[in-house]
Amino acid sequence: MNLLDYLPGVPDFPKPGILFRDISPLLANPAAFKEAITKLHDLAQSFDYTHILGVESRGFIFGSALALHANKGLIIARKPNKLPLASHREFYGLEYGKDSLEIQQSTIPKEARVLLMDDVLATGGTLIAADKLLRNAGFTVCGAITLLEIGALNGSTILKENGISNKTVLV
Ligand code: PRP
Ligand code: MG
Repeated sequence: MNLLDYLPGVPDFPKPGILFRDISPLLANPAAFKEAITKLHDLAQSFDYTHILGVESRGFIFGSALALHANKGLIIARKPNKLPLASHREFYGLEYGKDSLEIQQSTIPKEARVLLMDDVLATGGTLIAADKLLRNAGFTVCGAITLLEIGALNGSTILKENGISNKTVLV
């Protein structure tokens, strides 16, 4: 099975010049979704982690499925003003805009070794912000995994330059 067949590119969304990868067909196909989680789990096993950090919103879908599959805890990084006990916020640039993420430090075990997880790695801005959020709150980050890297944007290199070890299922 070629998982890319289930992640069709939609041109010029949400802005002209952006090829948006739609995860809906993959999620709607049980075999494809299962293969994606199995492959993410294979990558995750090279990291010594206790918790997965899922980034809102698409990172929640894959992060929660992987957490259950791997028997690990799930931590959530949310978009602004969603967490009642938010303690840390990090602003970042996206391929097509700006946003910020928050975590709730008080609900994360101090000894957590966190593996960052998202669906797509584009510019790396989201995962770098997630990494900073956790490190600024005193937690250990093991690395990052993604389902798909947009190779032309060199996100993998940018993550490495920021000290984040990452692996991806598809490029
Ligand atoms: C998309 C995608 C990644 C991020 C990748 O999320 O799900 O999180 O962009 O881009 P980057 O590497 O340039 O940061 P988006 O913020 O569009 O929103 P969503 O997950 O809520 O759909
Ligand atoms: Mg996202």
